[in-house]
Amino acid sequence: MLVEKPIGVIDSGVGGLTVVSELIRQLPKEEIIYIGDTDRCPYGPRPVEEVRKYTWEMIDYLLKHEIKMLVIACNTATAVVLEEAKERLSIPVIGVIHPGTIAALKVTQNDHVGVIGTEGTINSGAYFRELTKISSNVKVESLACPALVPLVEKGMFSGEEAKRIIEASLRPILQTPIDSLILGCTHYPLLAPVIQEIAGEGIEIISSGDETAREVSALLYFENLLFTGERPEPNYLFYTTGPIDTFEKIARDWLSIDDITVKRTDLLS
Ligand code: SIN
Repeated sequence: MLVEKPIGVIDSGVGGLTVVSELIRQLPKEEIIYIGDTDRCPYGPRPVEEVRKYTWEMIDYLLKHEIKMLVIACNTATAVVLEEAKERLSIPVIGVIHPGTIAALKVTQNDHVGVIGTEGTINSGAYFRELTKISSNVKVESLACPALVPLVEKGMFSGEEAKRIIEASLRPILQTPIDSLILGCTHYPLLAPVIQEIAGEGIEIISSGDETAREVSALLYFENLLFTGERPEPNYLFYTTGPIDTFEKIARDWLSIDDITVKRTDLLS
């Protein structure tokens, strides 16, 4: 039965684990199958057609595993593929951009919202469109921060060098009067403590994982796909296109669960 199938989550690498962490917290009975395309990460600087091709390779791979819902946890992939995936697939599909904008509009007091993301996400204008579609008052400051994803993929979440790189990247946007900052890349929440320290207390840091999990929950409920039965332990299966050990270490640290299975895939079989 479809209701028993896992939620499929795709990302360009380990960043989508920030969304998985919230899914596990908010939907503890659900099973999850995840693909991180670590071998080809980052997607941010890649041409749109390449992002489209790689994202569809991950989607097609997960469809073979029979998922009941698809979460595109990568902002860059969401900006390129979300609308066509919604049209083509017969299961519910959500991305992370809409939930991120909702979370920001909830907290901003001065209607001045900042967004940081990859070049792909920022150049697509997807956050600007989504924010201004929902609020006509909002002012948006956007900034691409290409140096941040490599930090996360290397596991450099803190320390002097990480801080120096993050500080230099954020400087232009911190000179604007924003009171909230959307982490418009699924990798950035892993750097959130340092980003918050640099941004200062006057700026609320918004990570879309929490709101995305809430929307997944609402959508599953609405579609009668929420698993409400009993199962001893939900299965969490992770695929990576890159080395297993790095992925496994980050997944264990970030998700704080020992019982995870990480496998390597070339996305072909
Ligand atoms: C990337 O692949 O460049 C980062 C992931 C994202 O855009 O959320």
